[in-house]
Order: sequence, then C-alpha cells, then structure tokens
Amino acid sequence: MSNAEPRIADHRTPLGALYRGDCLDLLPQMAAESMDLIFADPPFNLGKSYASGMDDAVPTERYLSWSRQWIEACVRVLKPGGSFFLYNLPKWNVALGAFLNERLTFRHLIAIEMTYTLPIAGRLYPSHYSLLYYCKGPRPRVFSPDRLAMATCPHCFRELKDYGGYKDKMNPGGVSLTDVWKDIPPVRHQKFKRRTDANELSIKLLDRVITMASQPGDLVLDPFGGSGSTYAVAEIKERRWLGMELGPIDQIIARMEPGNLKIEGRFLDEYRSEINALFPPAVLKSRYDCGHWTPGNIPKGRAREKIANAAHQQVELVLQEQQGRYSAPRTKGKRRLVSNQAVKSA
Ligand SMILES: C[S@@+](CC[C@H](N)C(=O)[O-])C[C@H]1O[C@@H](n2cnc3c(N)ncnc32)[C@H](O)[C@@H]1O
Repeated sequence: MSNAEPRIADHRTPLGALYRGDCLDLLPQMAAESMDLIFADPPFNLGKSYASGMDDAVPTERYLSWSRQWIEACVRVLKPGGSFFLYNLPKWNVALGAFLNERLTFRHLIAIEMTYTLPIAGRLYPSHYSLLYYCKGPRPRVFSPDRLAMATCPHCFRELKDYGGYKDKMNPGGVSLTDVWKDIPPVRHQKFKRRTDANELSIKLLDRVITMASQPGDLVLDPFGGSGSTYAVAEIKERRWLGMELGPIDQIIARMEPGNLKIEGRFLDEYRSEINALFPPAVLKSRYDCGHWTPGNIPKGRAREKIANAAHQQVELVLQEQQGRYSAPRTKGKRRLVSNQAVKSA
C-alpha cells in the first residue's frame, strides 16, 4: 500500500485500488500532492435514482457547497503539474469553474457534443456537456493530446471541411484536437450499459483524457466510480489508479477482470488505429482510389501524378500492416492502387 492510499482497499488489481465509501471521507485520508491526474464525473443533481440511495435533487446551494468540498479535497491531493478534469452540466461548471479559478490554472472548457437530446420549450436546444480542464501550477507536466482524422464523407470520401485551402500545410499526423469534441458517443443502450444508475461514460472520452494528461505509471484518481470507466481505461493504458464509489462496487470489480478488460482494450486499439493520422487507413485507400488528394499527394496543377510517390508508399505500407483486415471498396471504373515501382517510373 503506497502512502497515497487512504486505507486497506476493498478491491485491488495489478495497478489499482478501489474503495467503497464516501469520497469526502476518503480523500482527506490520502497523502497531499500524490495524484498525477484527477477525473471527476459527479452526480449532476438531476434527481436520478442511485443504488447508493444518495439524494440527487438537493437545493442548488447545497449541491454547490458539497461540490466545493470534494473539489477542495481533490485540489489538495493533486501534484504540482497534475491535471484536473471536471465533467458536468454547463450550469454547474460555470459556478464550479469560478471556484477552481482561485485554486488551479484554467486550461480549457471543453464542449462535448451530446446527441439524441430533446428540445426544451423556451430554451435553446441543449447539445453539449462541459469538461473543465485545469492544472496545478503554471502548466501541466504532461500534455500530449491526440490528433484526429479529417472528417470525410462516408460515400465519396471527400473531406467535409476545407481548412482554408491549407491542405499542403496540414500535419500528416492528423488535425489538432480542438476544445469541441463531437466524436464521443453516449453509452445509451441498456444492452451496453453496465450500470443503469451510473451514467456510464464512453471509454473513448477517458482514453482521450488519460492519454492527454498522464503517462504510463502515473497515478489517476476518480472519486466517483460509477461503472468504473476511468479505472478500466487506466488499467488498459498502464496507469496506476485509485477509485471510490459510494454505492455497490461489484460491477466495477467484474469489469476489471482480465477477460473483460481485454475486450475493452481491443475496442480502444481499434479506435486508436483511426486517429493520429489525417485519414484512417481504409479512408486513405479509398481516397486514393477515387483520385482525391492524400498526404504527400497535394494537388498542384499538372505535377499531381508525379508527386504521388509518397502517398503510394504510405498506402502500400498501411495496407501491408492491415492485411487481412481491409477489403477494398468496389470503385467501378476508378483508379486502382499502383505499385511503388510503377509510380517511380511515372
Ligand atoms: C455520474 S456517476 C459516474 C459514472 C462514471 N464516470 C462511469 O463512467 O461509470 C457518479 C457516481 O458517483 C457516486 N457517488 C455519489 N456521491 C459519491 C460520494 N460522495 N463518494 C463516492 N461516490 C459517490 C454515485 O453513486 C455514482 O455511481
């Protein structure tokens, strides 16, 4: 047991310790400045029914004062250079951001697009959650955001945004991550939910946050366990973790079994194979087949065919790596991929 830990854990994994209890009791027992990354997804005070029996419909001032207490406790255990993320409704994060501004350094307010919401009469259609991102001290010790693929049409594979005509200046490693995340799906269907009371988050979100703000071996804390999404991703990505949950923890424990983590790990591998490049491999191949530009093949008048070399090599390499997983789209009458040799002699 490291001195970052409050007491004997209720469950342990190779990298983590899980506590059943109130984070307001547990956090003060932890060593000061011991956490590299804190991610918190508290109840939103929307009157939900939680298995712990907690009251999720309290007066505004009571909710905010409770939130300030646990946030203060998190700030104490965060290391200098550590990062703090708070996922909540914009309504609560406006007030809690003002509180955090006095204690930590503001980095971003990330809007996470939510789909399938219902319009509310007399209000704007709510379509994002907010994710506050702070660090302790002037800058975060770790900041390594993923880059995303360009958005393309699923039918014709053309890009959907024109990036101001600067295609030739684009980083082949992908598009810079912005503070509006539109690609995080909700975990909505009961069949895929582990816990109906926990508002389980997509592991893509945790993967993005953990990748951006921690390194393997770092210690990640999530004081509101729910179904254990943070802990599962931390374990898969080889971060140490500490978890707390007021309600039952049996579903979190089951989720942490190696077989289950393997399935979630495969999902993340699949997802990660599509980012940190301008185009996912299959889209890259299809774009080439359709005659659209590919990295290294930026259209420049009649020189286009001659500068295709780099693109060919990249596509060939990707296809070799992907052999067995890729099936070429039927592109009747469209250009076929040619060998490197053919390109060199073009
Ligand atoms: C919104 S859910 C978290 C969902 C989680 N991020 C996931 O993806 O599964 C909030 C959780 O915090 C738990 N909780 C509420 N108050 C708590 C407290 N004081 N200490 C620890 N856990 C608490 C609730 O029981 C609930 O499971």
